[in-house]
Amino acid sequence: MTEISHAGTFAIAGRTVKRMGYGAMQLAGRGVFGPPKDRPGAVAVLRAAVESGIDHIDTSDFYGPHVTNQIIREALHPYRDDLLIVTKIGALRGADGSWNPAYSAAELTGAVHDNLRNLGLDVLDIVNLRIMFDVHGPAEGSIEAPLTVLAELQRQGLVRHIGLSNVTRTQIAQGRGITDIVCVQNQYNLAHRNDDALIDELAASGTAYVPFFPLGGFTPLQSTTLSDVAARLGATPMQVALAWLLRRAPNILLIPGTKSVAHLRDNLAAASIDLPPEAVAALDRIG
Ligand SMILES: NC(=O)c1ccc[n+]([C@@H]2O[C@H](COP(=O)([O-])OP(=O)(O)OC[C@H]3O[C@@H](n4cnc5c(N)ncnc54)[C@H](OP(=O)(O)O)[C@@H]3O)[C@@H](O)[C@H]2O)c1
Repeated sequence: MTEISHAGTFAIAGRTVKRMGYGAMQLAGRGVFGPPKDRPGAVAVLRAAVESGIDHIDTSDFYGPHVTNQIIREALHPYRDDLLIVTKIGALRGADGSWNPAYSAAELTGAVHDNLRNLGLDVLDIVNLRIMFDVHGPAEGSIEAPLTVLAELQRQGLVRHIGLSNVTRTQIAQGRGITDIVCVQNQYNLAHRNDDALIDELAASGTAYVPFFPLGGFTPLQSTTLSDVAARLGATPMQVALAWLLRRAPNILLIPGTKSVAHLRDNLAAASIDLPPEAVAALDRIG
């Protein structure tokens, strides 16, 4: 049993993955734009992740753009049969690094082909439609047009399964009327708890919830309570933040991001942390 197996598994997209995965966004350059300073280091992180038993990697072709997927290909292609690579479409990067909505049929189709080419795949396992009505958080609005395009690409055999990202409960319901939704990827962590009720609803329907920014993202979580709990357990605050997410709900799949093998190993060790009830109660109060 590998260390991360302690966190358990979850059934998604017709297979079973470990609940501790890896998010590849941090492997691009500063601001998720352009190449990283240390490309061999990025390759090493991905190889260490898979060697440690990780079988779920989150990415997008708009990281870089193209750069992160090309590094994944360099590091891991040909891919292990049990590796689930989840990507996302719905945005394009401006020349200044800006993140812009890209929902036309041509843009969505182009994005699927960009992912296929740069990852070196014939079919994408899961594609999340990233909703950009408000780039910083879910905002209401119909997702019918872009999701119908993605569902058509699924019918053509380019995409196996579909998920949604940065969405509201209403949009998930609308999406389920169009196609099967296997996962939802929204911002959620110890301090950002807007989706508490949604997570429980998705758990009841067996749908994976994949929190992005599990460690706080570009501004890692800082909390005296978190630091105190971590010190009492002999763990790091980041490890405790991940352990809390694993305990929060069985349908939560983790994709913490790092460009450092040392941080990767720290994060994987969080799978072995059993939080005592008093620690959970203290951490719950942070949100
Ligand atoms: N759907 C969406 O809209 C969306 C948006 C954002 C992200 N995502 C996905 O979610 C994944 C996770 O989000 P994220 O990577 O942005 O944020 P995150 O996992 O919350 O945090 C990453 C940050 O934490 C640092 N870090 C990681 N492990 C650490 C450790 N053990 N100790 C100290 N610092 C540590 C990283 O720096 P170092 O590199 O120095 O370790 C990086 O600055 C992404 O990789 C991406 O795949 C999706």
